[in-house]
Amino acid sequence: MNARDTAAGTIRPCDPGDLPAILPIINAAAEAYRGVIPADRWHEPYMPAAELASEIADGVIFSGYVREGGLVGVMGVQRRRSVDLIRHAYVLPAWQGHGIGAALLRHLAASSERPILLGTWRAADWAVRFYERHGFSRVADGDVARLLRAYWNIPEAQVAASVVLASPPLIGDAVTRLIAEGAAA
Ligand SMILES: CC(C)(COP(=O)(O)OP(=O)(O)OC[C@H]1O[C@@H](n2cnc3c(N)ncnc32)[C@H](O)[C@@H]1OP(=O)(O)O)[C@@H](O)C(=O)NCCC(=O)NCCS
Repeated sequence: MNARDTAAGTIRPCDPGDLPAILPIINAAAEAYRGVIPADRWHEPYMPAAELASEIADGVIFSGYVREGGLVGVMGVQRRRSVDLIRHAYVLPAWQGHGIGAALLRHLAASSERPILLGTWRAADWAVRFYERHGFSRVADGDVARLLRAYWNIPEAQVAASVVLASPPLIGDAVTRLIAEGAAA
């Protein structure tokens, strides 16, 4: 993915040198979860440096949105078998609501030729609305846990508190096929 100018900023791939900038963006934006997600899932910092490093080692590739010379938002993609997962979407609170998340999401979706799945907290209704507004559809509750276990490495307590959205929407037996494919690997 190459750098791309948007109306007001630039989207570019992140590299290892961006790690010190990515971490505070995630942890500042994740303040939105405080008191919203289950208390036992909240911890400080929300994303420890070692966890971010391990996510990157596990294949999460971040793109960043640059304004005024610095990163103000990040969004990651992780290839998993035949799908792309959107992982860790965060915009600094001061920059939220200016279309940066939308620009990052459009950029990543345009760069993907595969079905896209993403998981978020069930209680983060603003995030669910954000993705629905961008064409994602919620996966039926009965399929969420099996899909999460097949494609994500997250604790069971997080599985129970999450939703999954897909673009394009999973219709017919698509979800059953994805679950079988993910579980078989
Ligand atoms: C969710 C998140 C990544 C979205 O990024 P963002 O830059 O705020 O997203 P946008 O500005 O594109 O869209 C957010 C809202 O602002 C509105 N908006 C878009 N452009 C706007 C502008 N120029 N001025 C004012 N509002 C605008 C959109 O209509 C959208 O409304 P909605 O919330 O009703 O959908 C960001 O808000 C965030 O980091 N939230 C906290 C962490 C989080 O929930 N992350 C998601 C994890 S899966």
